[in-house]
Amino acid sequence: MSFPTHRPRRLRRTEALRGLVRETRLTTAGLIYPMFVCPGTKVRQEVSSMPGIYQQSADQIVEECREVESLGIPGIILFGLPETKDARGASALSAEGVVQRAVEAIRKAKLKLLVITDVCLCEYTDHGHCGVIENGDVANDSTVAILAQQALSHARAGADIVAPSDMMDGRVGAIRETLDEHKFENIAILAYAAKYCSGFYGPFREAAQSAPQFGDRRGYQMDPGNAREALKEVDLDLEEGADMVMVKPALAYLDVIRRVREAFDVPVGAYNVSGEYAMVKAAAQKDWLDEKRVVLEILTGIQRAGAEIILTYHAKDAARWLKAC
Ligand code: PBG
Repeated sequence: MSFPTHRPRRLRRTEALRGLVRETRLTTAGLIYPMFVCPGTKVRQEVSSMPGIYQQSADQIVEECREVESLGIPGIILFGLPETKDARGASALSAEGVVQRAVEAIRKAKLKLLVITDVCLCEYTDHGHCGVIENGDVANDSTVAILAQQALSHARAGADIVAPSDMMDGRVGAIRETLDEHKFENIAILAYAAKYCSGFYGPFREAAQSAPQFGDRRGYQMDPGNAREALKEVDLDLEEGADMVMVKPALAYLDVIRRVREAFDVPVGAYNVSGEYAMVKAAAQKDWLDEKRVVLEILTGIQRAGAEIILTYHAKDAARWLKAC
């Protein structure tokens, strides 16, 4: 039995009907807003390739956090632009580091916002790689030891969740162990489990001043052709103690999000990265796209693929638009 008995258009007739039968209901509750903190006070410098996104000092971060909270966005993720960089990324683990200071300032402001910190060395090393260099290569195990200390310093500052994005093997286990040893057993780990070596990180590297000064990240980030390997990465991170996992970028990897969602019963996140944001912004500025419409469509698509948590630079706009709906 098919047409004329079945007419799918019956349920598309009015907005009330469409709303009633909608399978994916995008809400602000799953959005996380990424922010870039730099030294100083009263600094607020727009990232040229990411209109609406700023490098800002801790005092300004706190101000924007108030706005983020008032929009109903549950959390932020912080990236740091340190005062100094060196070969081993020492400024990443300092108690006086930019991220640590910003986390303390947010905590002091008594905001309810979840504070997530990105754990990685690329913003802190003078060569721009995500780990330390030994014998011309990014050394896995020495890097892991430093990352665990970085995560610990974030927890001490008051972070709720640490999010390792470096793609070293074994870092989740080392971070869990170090946090537990210091009585931070309630600090959660959101692992960038399946992070691909992607051209879509271009604008972020301007925002975070973290472009590698030689070579590339193919030796540690995943090859874009692999999806089965993503399941293995997720499996390993969960075994090591990750509480939540993430796929990154989002749009060219919706199939990976779906497969991770189906294979594991943990919260799954996706990072709608800087290049994905920049493409929409650039086209919208030229009036080539209806920004609100495509942003809500993109976020709905990422959620429909299986991500209940979405890290996105569009979070504030999306929250405003969703409120008005
Ligand atoms: C590494 C890191 C990167 C991003 C988040 N964490 C960049 C990279 O791996 O080169 C990219 C995020 C984005 O593009 O929005 N610390």
